[in-house]
Amino acid sequence: MTRVSPANIDTIKKASDLLKEGQVVAVPTETVYGLAGNALDGEAVARIYEVKGRPSFNPLITHVPDLETARFYGQFSKQALVLASLFWPGPLTLVVKQIPDNGISELVTAGLETIALRVPKHPVMQDLLKVCKLPIAAPSANLSGRLSPTNAVHVADMLGDKVPMILAGGAAEVGLESTVVDMSGDVPTLLRPGAITKQDIEQALDTRIEEGFEETDKPKSPGLLVKHYAPSIPIRLKAVDLKKGEALLGFGNDKFIALEESGFIKSLPQSRHENLSPNGDLVEAASNLFRMLHELDRPENTGIAVMAIPEEGLGQAINDRLKRAVAK
Ligand code: TXA
Ligand code: MG
Repeated sequence: MTRVSPANIDTIKKASDLLKEGQVVAVPTETVYGLAGNALDGEAVARIYEVKGRPSFNPLITHVPDLETARFYGQFSKQALVLASLFWPGPLTLVVKQIPDNGISELVTAGLETIALRVPKHPVMQDLLKVCKLPIAAPSANLSGRLSPTNAVHVADMLGDKVPMILAGGAAEVGLESTVVDMSGDVPTLLRPGAITKQDIEQALDTRIEEGFEETDKPKSPGLLVKHYAPSIPIRLKAVDLKKGEALLGFGNDKFIALEESGFIKSLPQSRHENLSPNGDLVEAASNLFRMLHELDRPENTGIAVMAIPEEGLGQAINDRLKRAVAK
């Protein structure tokens, strides 16, 4: 079982080195413990999903040390700046439009044009962000369907043998995930309630804000109303052939896919052919999924034929997203 490492200069440096290598590390924040990975590295982000055993891809929060760094990745309106300067560092996440080509993995944003940014207050997380100088994607460090952990022992119980390091920084002060406010549209919208309340936000902005989460019979679930990215052309799953005009999204060996038109798979241009992972590696496939769908989603392609992906490990989340793209 992974040793819980109390935070100090050495263990923070170690955590930073692990993050730079593309590993995931459990880290303390003032809200809940997070499962951290380099937001610029798609395979590191895919590993976050693998460790959590989450059967679907939802956009993740990117953590940065300060507003100045946040503005490198996202576009802040005047109102967004007001909230950032009042509540950061702290338990508030702002969804804003991305700066184009900001380097953030498309798996972090699940292919959306927006990004969720947060400047955490916890001193250990602050130090880690400053030492590693990387934007950190971090959902709560629980297994899918389990409660969010508020101390290092909770994390060790759930993920002890799945992460190389659990950086311990005491009990999470807030004990509840951050408030998420979508500032990317015309009207600010509360997507996830948290310690910073709707009233706090309305007072700061001196205006009423919308509520975007769906009412369900369950306790309010996080981010339910998040729009999902789906290509604008039809998707066909478990393809074993390629119809005229279609683009191919391969997985594993795709050279035996039958082409309706003459020619070879390997001579198709990149705008019509991508492969999620020629070796059939699901971590690599997950890290490429949204980028490749975007690449093939062109009006000149009649659709995207996707080869079968095994329903195991990360394959479940990949298939979940593809099925939703078919059903849209
Ligand atoms: O307190 C927290 O926020 C914790 C700690 C570890 O910082 N992190 C956390 O992260 O809860 P995560 O990734 O599980 O939360 C993501 C939330 C979800 O509600 C998600 O739907 C929303 O943020 N979200 C992320 N990106 C979004 C986007 N582009 N548009 C709308 N909602 C987004
Ligand atoms: Mg969570």
